Amino acid sequence: MTPGVKPLVAGNWKMNGTSAGLDQLAAMANYYTPELHKRLDMLVCVPATLLFRASETVKNGPIKTGGQDCHWEASGAHTGDISTAMISDAGGSAVIVGHSERRSDHGETDQVVNRKVTAALASGLMTIVCIGEIEEERKSGKTLDVLGSQLSGSIPENRGGGELVVAYEPVWAIGTGLTPTVEDVREAHSFVREKMVELIGNEGERTRLLYGGSVKPANAGSLLGIDNVDGALVGGASLKAEDFLGIAAAYRALV
Ligand code: 13P
Repeated sequence: MTPGVKPLVAGNWKMNGTSAGLDQLAAMANYYTPELHKRLDMLVCVPATLLFRASETVKNGPIKTGGQDCHWEASGAHTGDISTAMISDAGGSAVIVGHSERRSDHGETDQVVNRKVTAALASGLMTIVCIGEIEEERKSGKTLDVLGSQLSGSIPENRGGGELVVAYEPVWAIGTGLTPTVEDVREAHSFVREKMVELIGNEGERTRLLYGGSVKPANAGSLLGIDNVDGALVGGASLKAEDFLGIAAAYRALV
């Protein structure tokens, strides 16, 4: 944790969930009381097809909803894409940008991510920028170099009103059940903190830095206890209310 920084537990449903999955979101909303909201923020980033209904499901409550990607243009001939305004219009207040699955499935480069981050922040969305090394890079000792260059490339100089959040997600830890050691997470997050201060000044000292990759109720507490880990970006375990709430409960015990 970072002193004075409110933790954020963010879910990423990826390409999972139809209308039936909204029951899980409703169950999360029942548990996540305004009292708990004073201690931690919760966000669920659902598929675009569900965003409006998901937002209606948690309307007027403290759980926020978001998208998983956006285009950098406001509108136009971009078949299949959605704009930041469309996310807001559907009730979303956040967006994930530059997830490793976007980078690998769709060839997104840091330059593309940078444009998306610029657009998302300008439109006032909370913008979660994902970075992380692949297994070979970790094994060859290049992790911090990779994180540094992804941050330099992806964080824009001109930042609009939305909150910027960074998620460190080692690609080899995503969906595998593997997690880095506490020491490795501490090293990576401390590096990301320094780099953020270098890139954006004082704001970087309070930027929320999330850890993502096989976060579960059982390991959530030990991960949040690490310096400069201000929350989690959760994939698989965010699909079921019981698991996602279990992560929130582990955090609650700490904050
Ligand atoms: P898992 O929690 O399923 O490993 O996914 C992490 C992730 O990619 C969140 O964006």
